[in-house]
Amino acid sequence: MNPPRAAFPAIAIAIAATCVLSLAACNANLSEPITATAPAPMKPAMASDADLLARGEYLVRITGCNDCHTAGYTEKAGDVPTSDWLLGSPLGYSGPWGTTYAANLRLRLAEMDEAEWMTWSATLRTRPIMPDFALRAMHDDDRRAIYRFIRSLGPAGSKAPEYLPPGSAPPPPFLQLVLPPAARAGAASGG
Ligand code: HEC
Repeated sequence: MNPPRAAFPAIAIAIAATCVLSLAACNANLSEPITATAPAPMKPAMASDADLLARGEYLVRITGCNDCHTAGYTEKAGDVPTSDWLLGSPLGYSGPWGTTYAANLRLRLAEMDEAEWMTWSATLRTRPIMPDFALRAMHDDDRRAIYRFIRSLGPAGSKAPEYLPPGSAPPPPFLQLVLPPAARAGAASGG
């Protein structure tokens, strides 16, 4: 399901070319310039609710949210029904930051309205391994689309495990980031 954007420039150019030609033809026959009957300038097209939902699903599918926030998604090569998406995961991500767990976004987003999400997600800072920088870099419409789609799935499931600070050994399953030997030696000798 490709978003229809790629087709727009070609269509827009074709329409613009047609308008320019017909305007030139009209003006050639007029002695008075048209002012009062000129149409209002076009506003940029607003995405419809259906467009936003479809785009949200597409973005969640291709930008990796499911890889971490949907348990078993990568193991099943993405063959998971949308009704099971984004329920959070018990897989810990362990490193110098402690151990983090990808949140249940269906429950989390049920706690906030769209305006709150737009403000929060534009400046979101999390611990690793969440790519918060990618969310912050998204266009407003893309973050709005993600919100609409996740809300359309409805709240379900339970919360992901609590974050563990550095030094607390996580129970399995977890992925462990192991630093390169030089960094480990430096850390062990205190510098
Ligand atoms: C590489 C794994 C990974 C990917 C990819 C990922 N996340 Fe996350 N996400 C996490 C982890 C782990 C946390 C918890 C971070 C923490 O504890 O501070 C998190 C936290 C979050 C939070 C904050 C939850 C809260 O209650 O504080 C949001 C919102 C979020 N992710 C949304 C997304 C969205 C939307 C996408 C897709 C664009 C995405 N994530 C992609 C791993 C990931």
